[in-house]
Amino acid sequence: MKFAKPLLLAGFALAATALYAADRTDPNAIARAELMGVIGKNTKALGDMAGGKVAFDATAAEAAKAALAEAAAKISDTFKEQGGADPADEAKPEIWANWDDFAKKADALTTAATALDATSLESVQAGMGAVGGACKDCHSTYRM
Ligand code: HEC
Repeated sequence: MKFAKPLLLAGFALAATALYAADRTDPNAIARAELMGVIGKNTKALGDMAGGKVAFDATAAEAAKAALAEAAAKISDTFKEQGGADPADEAKPEIWANWDDFAKKADALTTAATALDATSLESVQAGMGAVGGACKDCHSTYRM
């Protein structure tokens, strides 16, 4: 069974996505949660290495960094449409009232993720402060 492993991995990826978006019904809210799920997953992969929970692996670190930077660059497009009311949504309406500021915070994460040097444990550790700061800076203002 040559294809067993990739299929299994794809199944896990789908399951993880479904989990993140499970409670939401509005397509915009689902897309937001899915994108944040990708961001969360890759940040965790880097954080686990930085914190010594998982052994440093340069290939995995580079892949997580690239996926994080790519997802961060999609935040503005994915959040642009507020969509309909969705009780499970955690996006504050202030996002659309302060769009330029929100977009700036999204750009700050893209910049931090792009700047992160994934080639060594030390450089990942050094870069994670700015990444985590960018998450916190936006969540504290725009996430319920
Ligand atoms: C520019 C703003 C912004 C940045 C930067 C940002 N987030 Fe978010 N994040 C949000 C908002 C808003 C929500 C709520 C989305 C919703 O419910 O529609 C959210 C939700 C989440 C969720 C929950 C998804 C779910 O299924 O409920 C996770 C996990 C998450 N973010 C992780 C991160 C991590 C990790 C970072 C940093 C690497 C980050 N976010 C950076 C705005 C941001």
